[in-house]
Amino acid sequence: MTKLGASVSRCSVSGSKPAFGPAFVVALALATGVGVLNAQTSAVPTNIPYADAKSVLDVLRDNLLPPELRSAAPAAREAVWPAWVSRRDQEIRARLARADEDSLLNLLLLGTTFTRHPRVTDLAALRAPDAAAAMLAGRVDDLVGALSGPGGDERIRFARGVIAGTGTTVETPAGRRQAREYLFAILARVTRETEEFARTVAAMSQLDDPVAKLALDATNYRDRGLSSDTSIVPNFAIDQALQDLRTAGRLRPGTVRRVAVVGPGLDVIDRREGYDFYPVQTIQPFAVIDSLMRLGLAVRDQLHVTTFDVSPKVNGHLDAARRRADGGDGYIIQLPLGSHERWRAELIAYWERFGKSVGDDADAAAPPANSGVRVRAIQVRPEVLRSVVPQDLNIVLQRLDGLAPAERFDLVVATNIFIYYDVFEQSLALANVARMLRPGGLLLSNTLVPELPGLPMTLVTHTDVVYTETAVGDRILCYERAR
Ligand SMILES: C[S@@+](CC[C@H](N)C(=O)[O-])C[C@H]1O[C@@H](n2cnc3c(N)ncnc32)[C@H](O)[C@@H]1O
Repeated sequence: MTKLGASVSRCSVSGSKPAFGPAFVVALALATGVGVLNAQTSAVPTNIPYADAKSVLDVLRDNLLPPELRSAAPAAREAVWPAWVSRRDQEIRARLARADEDSLLNLLLLGTTFTRHPRVTDLAALRAPDAAAAMLAGRVDDLVGALSGPGGDERIRFARGVIAGTGTTVETPAGRRQAREYLFAILARVTRETEEFARTVAAMSQLDDPVAKLALDATNYRDRGLSSDTSIVPNFAIDQALQDLRTAGRLRPGTVRRVAVVGPGLDVIDRREGYDFYPVQTIQPFAVIDSLMRLGLAVRDQLHVTTFDVSPKVNGHLDAARRRADGGDGYIIQLPLGSHERWRAELIAYWERFGKSVGDDADAAAPPANSGVRVRAIQVRPEVLRSVVPQDLNIVLQRLDGLAPAERFDLVVATNIFIYYDVFEQSLALANVARMLRPGGLLLSNTLVPELPGLPMTLVTHTDVVYTETAVGDRILCYERAR
């Protein structure tokens, strides 16, 4: 999600194709040299073979390649490729632990269910000497107290698990002291990272080279933990993009049958507007189905959705929801709309109609008093839940291999995920998506990924969506798999 005014002026549009496409490609492409079983297909996750990576390795400038591959001669690259992929897969998955710590910190700062102390929404306010100790002592005590008691909801169990991962047991006084120190250490790390990030963004705004600027912008989170943060907002942008694709005739009524959602996310408690007054939930798979059904692009009972994620937390959550659906249970999604932004009328209208094609209105959870948060709730029908199959897969390094032509995806949705990777890894991800799309199939993403000459993916159009009166929005880019 970006301040759209700025991003649109950088990415001016000519004809139906964004003007940054060719320039971006030319500048970057200087030719110098598992888990959950997918019940919808017999195809299995497979590491990207060297033959497919070669089309990326051969065209990207050397300084965009990982050091180990940069220094290797082309023949030697092939020999080290399988080991590099396995090692990198582990490194990427290791980034999940840092994001879990970030979520734990968000819970500490923003949660309202375990404490009566006020939420701390301004991280900068904690920087003054002794401010953190003064402002957070009560919240830290209350959280550690909740963690050391029995039971607790999914978030408390999650938080306990993160702390237990450090070898700390909150059941003893010494363990509770360690837990408090650990929470303050996370705060110190996140504060440091936030400051570094602000410096990087400021330095980026000074760059003269628009292509370098775009590349940095699109890889902004490449050093961050892999957050599962999600909300209704990017799904409004996907809804608008699907509507545009229908109007333009790129997607025809009733033709979308197989969809992949890459990185569906899990709303544990996000850093911007996080609350913990409703259960942990995922939104995007159901939002995409809802939009496709509403727009008549998909037909009930013919739509199959696969989610790809590296996070056991995300995959496990969806898998458990599916199992409950087998027993006849629906899935409740709470839709908070915070008062911290001046939302545009179109976004509010989307929030009001969200879910009507996949479920029925349900009882909304009560937000904290005086929070100004409005809440709607939807109960997704069990049959909709059963049409969603979670799959452990690292989109940067893996694809489902052996998909029959009829099993390949018509549509892949990937929002707020590619930005966590550098240009090389984004390009590998694009190669993996291309391998799973049918000819003419579409990828929708809000991150600008370079089109490389060797990859059968072309940026064909985009949709700009504005969420707030202050012009925060997203550009949804649409890539087409060569026919
Ligand atoms: C920030 S969340 C975005 C959630 C949702 N797409 C949205 O826009 O609200 C990123 C999601 O991508 C997943 N993810 C990150 N890297 C991934 C990878 N290499 N392969 C598959 N999933 C990945 C994370 O676990 C998380 O679920």
